[in-house]
Amino acid sequence: MLKLIATCAAGLEAVLARELESLGYKDLQVENGRVVFTAGLRDIAKANIWLRTAGRVLVLMGAFPALTFDELFEGTKALAWADWLPPDAEFPVSGRARNSKLMSVPDCQAIVKKAIVESLKGRYRRRWFEETGARFPIDVSLNGDIATLTIDTSGTGLHKRGYRPEAGTAPLRETLAAGLVLLSYWQPDRVLLDPCCGAGTIPIEAALIGLNKAPGLERDFAPAAWPVVPKKVWEEEREEAKACIRHEELRIYGSDIDGEAVRLARRNAEKAGVGGAVHWQTLPLSQVRSRYQYGCLICNPPYGERIGDREASESLYIELGKVARQLENWSIYVLTNHPGFERFFGRRADRRRKLYNGRLETTYYQFFGPRPGAAHTLAQAHAHAHKKE
Ligand SMILES: C[S@@+](CC[C@H](N)C(=O)[O-])C[C@H]1O[C@@H](n2cnc3c(N)ncnc32)[C@H](O)[C@@H]1O
Repeated sequence: MLKLIATCAAGLEAVLARELESLGYKDLQVENGRVVFTAGLRDIAKANIWLRTAGRVLVLMGAFPALTFDELFEGTKALAWADWLPPDAEFPVSGRARNSKLMSVPDCQAIVKKAIVESLKGRYRRRWFEETGARFPIDVSLNGDIATLTIDTSGTGLHKRGYRPEAGTAPLRETLAAGLVLLSYWQPDRVLLDPCCGAGTIPIEAALIGLNKAPGLERDFAPAAWPVVPKKVWEEEREEAKACIRHEELRIYGSDIDGEAVRLARRNAEKAGVGGAVHWQTLPLSQVRSRYQYGCLICNPPYGERIGDREASESLYIELGKVARQLENWSIYVLTNHPGFERFFGRRADRRRKLYNGRLETTYYQFFGPRPGAAHTLAQAHAHAHKKE
């Protein structure tokens, strides 16, 4: 068994843990910005293909106390590198340090590189490694007295699903968009609307969730070239994931005032294979209406970061408040970093969650409507009570 680490944006740890649980992993350790879990080799493929909120999946090679460069060298050399790296492996070493006595990160990187070479020499009986083969990105992280060594199994970050070559302006990371949907009360049988959809990331991620389509189905993964996880395993996991796709009728809507953004969103949805699942429209927020009840409005409106944009974003939040008040029984979810958002929107949130949008600290404001089930049960209870009378 291995220890794998799924990394995520700060604030998404609990959602990521929930995702891992629903994939069947039980032994989870939730930490800041990551979840560690026990898995087998096949799970490298499974986790990369299925996880929606993870940024990367790493193999935890080892963690040990390293107060001196010698300890770092010996601890690294003792790990089973040749179980993973073939003799022609390319293995760049990145590094970071926090509160460590070993302050020079470049020196630590060089020592780790040298120790891995020594370890490989022992197994492969050769003095020189060409590094012309598959890539194994290694990271050394020094946190206090502990050195942690990992190999990155994702290559390109998992937010790059492959459907969004053109991002539009101020796009949301796909992993964060999926997190916003998974943090909401939206279920595939409810309506979802993003009235400031931009490149369409929130509706597209919701459609992938609603259709149970694995987010990594359309992209390649670097470790598919690693001898340790045979290509066949990747193909089998991909096939299994394809068989899980549900063919459901979804009611997902994306609109934006910018016609070019809507055209881009439509193209992205086609690329993601969810073209038929989302309805797109060019529409200013002020004209947004819905005949449905119990829907979820999820959006990432402009934050008004640039000078001069502040007032426009504030008027938009006032507008959003008006639209929300007309949506009967809906739940509203808004991500912004504007500290006065609730004042302009006109209501205090039922719940606020701090989430990082890249380097920006933002708040996910959540305004809960009644649950359809609860209202239904209540209506039934009333009807029942009337009958009794
Ligand atoms: C931060 S971006 C949204 C990015 C989007 N989540 C994505 O992933 O691409 C904000 C969007 O709000 C749209 N917007 C600004 N004012 C609007 C209005 N009055 N009505 C509708 N959309 C508006 C902009 O055109 C922009 O696409």
